[in-house]
Amino acid sequence: MAFDAPHFSSRTAVVCRGAGKTWAAGTKRAHEALRDVDLDIAPGEFVVFLGPSGCGKSTLLYLIAGLEDATDGAIWSFGDKVETPSPQRSLIFQETSLFPWLTVWQNVSFGLAIRGASQAERRRVAAEALQRVGLKAAMDKRPDELSGGMRQRVAVARALAMRPKVLLMDEPFAALDVQTRARMQDFLLDVWRDSGASVLFVTHHIDEAVALADRVVVFTARPGRIKTIVPIDLPRPRNLFSREAEALRIQLTDLLRDEVDRAFAEQEAMTA
Ligand SMILES: Nc1ncnc2c1ncn2[C@@H]1O[C@H](COP(=O)(O)OP(=O)(O)O)[C@@H](O)[C@H]1O
Ligand SMILES: [Mg+2]
Repeated sequence: MAFDAPHFSSRTAVVCRGAGKTWAAGTKRAHEALRDVDLDIAPGEFVVFLGPSGCGKSTLLYLIAGLEDATDGAIWSFGDKVETPSPQRSLIFQETSLFPWLTVWQNVSFGLAIRGASQAERRRVAAEALQRVGLKAAMDKRPDELSGGMRQRVAVARALAMRPKVLLMDEPFAALDVQTRARMQDFLLDVWRDSGASVLFVTHHIDEAVALADRVVVFTARPGRIKTIVPIDLPRPRNLFSREAEALRIQLTDLLRDEVDRAFAEQEAMTA
């Protein structure tokens, strides 16, 4: 089988070859979300997935996370075929689900508890991860004592505690206000730099893509295919008011506009 003899290095963080997903495949409700995705992501690379709502961005993250199977093609991570979830690949959602009855540190070290780590070990790892997100002082608090931004930082700490090689983030800051979101972007860039992990970050915000990405993968309307990949060669820390940054925002806006129009037309046709 061609897909069992892939031509790529086992050092590549994520490799997608012809990856596709049809939800409810083989039924009357079959719904093609994603088609023919070829993508290579390097270790330590920051890649943003940008595309209109409903184009399959979340679906692709679930496939890479191993939460869902590709119905076409295949995905590898560091040489291993992705078939199940792995602590090497942590997924962070828009709405964090922390356990309200556990303290912050217990939430952060929950995955280690499942692995059977001792209480002392869990507390030590949680403290270290919380230190990295600037929340060590909140270790013994409960989630409902924290703001939305702080809860998302706890979610990032929980992911970091597992020492993932790939961080998958699905619109993690979308529910936050604009000022908090800008702060969280800076914070994420610091964490990313320290961790050495690859980050795959879904957004439909062009500003966010230009602020964060080494490369922006622009998707077509559903079924999502890669329309183009735009490298963001701005030095870090970035001046987002520079003429180069503005030119990139204009370029991405143009690329997205047609796809958003198509997505709208399709949604109208489906509900008519
Ligand atoms: N679990 C599911 N079952 C059936 N269809 C789904 C499921 N999840 C998503 N879809 C559909 O797949 C398409 C892509 O969805 P999604 O990946 O969530 O898009 P995005 O994240 O880009 O907004 C949409 O048409 C959506 O309705
Ligand atoms: Mg989504």
